[in-house]
Amino acid sequence: MSAAPQRVLHVAAEIFPLLKTGGLADVVAALPPALAVLGHDVRVLLPGLPAIRDGIGPLKRLAECGPAFGAGRVSLFSGRMPDTGLPVLLLDAPFLYDRPGNPYVDGSGLGWSDNHRRFALLGWAAAQIGAGGLVEGWRPHIIHAHDWHAGLAAAYLAARPGPRPATVFTIHNLAFQGLFDASVFAELGLPPAQFGIDGLEFHRQVSFMKAGLAYSDHITTVSPTYAREIHDPAAAAGLEGLIRRRTASLSGILNGVDYAIWDPAHDPDIAQTYRSCPSPGKQACRAALRAEFGLAPNPGQALFCVVSRLSEQKGLDLVLAAVDRLIALDAQLVLLGSGDRALEEAFREAALRHPAQIAVRIGYDERLAHRIIAGADVILVPSRFEPCGLTQLYGLRYGTLPLVRRVGGLADTVVDATAAALADGSATGFAFETASPEALADTLQRAVAAWQQPKVWAGLCSSAMQASFSWDAAAARYHTLYLQLQT
Ligand code: ADP
Ligand code: GLC
Repeated sequence: MSAAPQRVLHVAAEIFPLLKTGGLADVVAALPPALAVLGHDVRVLLPGLPAIRDGIGPLKRLAECGPAFGAGRVSLFSGRMPDTGLPVLLLDAPFLYDRPGNPYVDGSGLGWSDNHRRFALLGWAAAQIGAGGLVEGWRPHIIHAHDWHAGLAAAYLAARPGPRPATVFTIHNLAFQGLFDASVFAELGLPPAQFGIDGLEFHRQVSFMKAGLAYSDHITTVSPTYAREIHDPAAAAGLEGLIRRRTASLSGILNGVDYAIWDPAHDPDIAQTYRSCPSPGKQACRAALRAEFGLAPNPGQALFCVVSRLSEQKGLDLVLAAVDRLIALDAQLVLLGSGDRALEEAFREAALRHPAQIAVRIGYDERLAHRIIAGADVILVPSRFEPCGLTQLYGLRYGTLPLVRRVGGLADTVVDATAAALADGSATGFAFETASPEALADTLQRAVAAWQQPKVWAGLCSSAMQASFSWDAAAARYHTLYLQLQT
């Protein structure tokens, strides 16, 4: 890899394994180390939420930032991530961050009423670091901000005179925009001109997402197909105008998988490790999963799984609507997920009605996710939209074939088992177009039919397990982008 290493500051609200609500945390944990391998000097700026603060140690005080955003005392610490040693800059502001649990919502599921201050502080601190303040002797060439939580970094930098680092903003999910009442703008300390249609204003509200989109030098999103899709109103949640205006500075870079964590050959959480499929190891994982969930121990039934947030995005209402077809196909389903209360309840009821064939665990459990993905035959990801999606990638590596809707990153990573793709050995799963229970059910049927033909299934599994979505490939693309932004 050529050219000078860069000092790069990533800015994000969550990081695996310390604090995770979704794939963003996996990306923030894995991409910076992959960039470091290419020679970059990468640090990650994170809010000092209890789970992050307590997981990083020992901490060294770097600077006092003085009072900001009503936070009282704000300090910057440095530390390192426990497993990877990734350098972290931790923004300690107890009044804003000293709240356990979900980083974005309170115990009743509502956004914290001071979220605009909590995440403005994150962007503001990134900009201070970018301007050469706060971290003595370390001024980044690139500030790479993730999702709306870090969106204001670019706005604060744009508001400063003089040289500044290049800015990259990655959209992980355009559906979450960080929208606040217009009245909060006065608290942000940004120039009034930024509260306009070309800036942060979105229908008389303040949009942190728009700040990232409008003021960053370059925008990326997490798959090429999602990058195209968000030019259309159906996927852009009202931001298509701005996306189209910025199209020359927008690219899709597919996420990777951290194979140090997601690989059945050395996964400490699964019943038996395995390197191929079908294999005794995979069979042991399947039997263990059935036993753990009390499903009928019938090896003649295909075993589907879901590991997901339960939200409109993920299309799991389609799975519910297709449950009768799944039962009629004599298949089984294990679901691990949490989120929407109505979906949680409906899946629980389905499990009560069909206890030998459907098992449901409502909650969030990282290690159980590994056992489920290792033990199932097929992982269902029927999303309405999906910027990238990681669980289908995990499924591929575990020989647990993804059955996906052909959108976003799912379209970019799963090759449907058409006759042609089966013949040339490229097929790695199953995909359908229309977001309807019928289309999903027909695809479930295709999957069961393939599963009933051992030779066909073995071919599919082997292609799936060999597919590689390493972070090295993604990091190489970001590397090229960083260098372009410096010239
Ligand atoms: P999103 O970020 O939209 O939720 P991704 O597929 O990118 O979707 O990432 C989801 C991540 O969260 C994956 O690492 C997945 O294993 C994990 N995950 C989702 N729901 C659960 C759950 N209930 N328990 C454990 N892990 C989960
Ligand atoms: C978002 C998206 C998901 C993506 C993840 C990581 O949460 O919903 O598709 O994989 O971010 O980029």
